[in-house]
Amino acid sequence: MERMFLWALFFVLFSFCVSSGKETEPPLEMEHLTSELLESARTPEFFDWLVRSRRKLHENPELSFQEFETSEFIRTELESLGVNFTWPIAKTGIVASIGSGAQPWFALRADMDALPIQEMVEWEHKSKNDGKMHACGHDVHVTMLLGAAKLLQQRRNELKGTVKLVFQPGEEGAAGAYHMLKEGALDKFQGIFGLHVAPDLPIGTIGSRAGPFMAGSGRFLATIQGSGGHAAMPHKAKDPVLAMSLAIISLQHIISRETDPLESRVITVGFVKGGQAGNVIPETVTFGGTFRSMTVEGLSYLQQRIKEVIEFQSAVHQCNATVDFMEEKSRAYPATVNDEALYSHAKKVGEHLLGGESNVRLLPMFMAAEDFSFYAQKMPAAFFMIGAKNESMKSGIQLHSPYIVLDEKVLPVGSALHAAVAISYLDGQSVRSN
Ligand SMILES: *[C@@H]1O[C@H](CO)[C@@H](O)[C@H](O)[C@H]1NC(C)=O
Ligand SMILES: *[C@@H]1O[C@H](CO)[C@@H](O)[C@H](O)[C@H]1NC(C)=O
Ligand SMILES: *[C@@H]1O[C@H](CO)[C@@H](O)[C@H](O)[C@H]1NC(C)=O
Repeated sequence: MERMFLWALFFVLFSFCVSSGKETEPPLEMEHLTSELLESARTPEFFDWLVRSRRKLHENPELSFQEFETSEFIRTELESLGVNFTWPIAKTGIVASIGSGAQPWFALRADMDALPIQEMVEWEHKSKNDGKMHACGHDVHVTMLLGAAKLLQQRRNELKGTVKLVFQPGEEGAAGAYHMLKEGALDKFQGIFGLHVAPDLPIGTIGSRAGPFMAGSGRFLATIQGSGGHAAMPHKAKDPVLAMSLAIISLQHIISRETDPLESRVITVGFVKGGQAGNVIPETVTFGGTFRSMTVEGLSYLQQRIKEVIEFQSAVHQCNATVDFMEEKSRAYPATVNDEALYSHAKKVGEHLLGGESNVRLLPMFMAAEDFSFYAQKMPAAFFMIGAKNESMKSGIQLHSPYIVLDEKVLPVGSALHAAVAISYLDGQSVRSN
């Protein structure tokens, strides 16, 4: 009994020390910060500005490393907010700074490029550039980061360090993040946070997971050289079509026979080109695709085996093959791996901002790839999906669909979340170093 009393006393004292100590985030302060940010971003004036910006970007999509007008639009907005920035980085990229200018430096990231897709949604702000569309929501990503810039700029004198806003080119296969890093634009950063819209998650929810979240991904292009001839006399030719057919089938055996069934790996051949006529054996054929894995070792294993399988299957048919992994043009992306501590931080901020744990979901790993992974290799990083589901959109429509409709109510939520994650991260760092 007495012992229990002592324990109880100890517990009360202990919890008092913890709750008054500097180490833990006072929940009330976080509650206050997040609701204030969200309220600001949802005022009609702020929301209208977000919607106008997003629609302007949506109407004018530009492909990877051609984001010249997008970049100019961002710079104009930053200038009118009075925010400093460095430009150009990796052709069209921008890094803006808000705060004291001193360390710690914490980054928020948005990608700027669109896809070579013809928009099929009929609405007032449909893409004006034929064959190009913001079908991956990067227009929304840019706008949410501009929204965060505005919120942060209002609080610039209270920031305990510096928030860096990274607007990067070329996420869609062109490894823009790799090129931003290569130019040294993110040296000495302590961490980075990124958001991606999710058309299947409701507004007011986010989701992610600690550790590996999205796949590493590479591309390949194969050419099989045979020797052409008359289709009626195959013995006088070397048929590259048959060699390719067997090679494509054998590629799937790398997954089904060489990969642990409990590991996630994918090989997909996405195109084949060869031949012109039904009565001619062509000289050459080309085909190509993508391969994915959740680990660095998995990705390099697949790369090595794809080359071997295509070369050997070609040899079986007396043809020659070359396999190109296009390192310069479409560099392989590593897997996106979330830092445990930064993931937990963003999750906690999200729970406060979105009013409850059920709005912050634990998502399964998935095999899409993201060049945010290059940042995650260099510094602690956390990448979250954010709900942008528009109830009017037919279910089953995914990112990269010409029919995608994103709900603009995500804009204030994403802006406030970006800002809250950065502000409270810097607050936490200053507590630790005090
Ligand atoms: C912005 O630029 C001004 C003028 O160069 C400088 O004094 C200030 O420190 C800069 N702010 C940040 C956050 O880098
Ligand atoms: C394949 O390459 C070898 C060595 O260069 C060559 O002798 C042969 O003719 C080539 N075969 C075809 C079908 O191109
Ligand atoms: C949702 O989609 C409908 C139909 O396209 C559109 O009218 C509405 O503005 C969208 N909602 C938002 C908030 O974007």
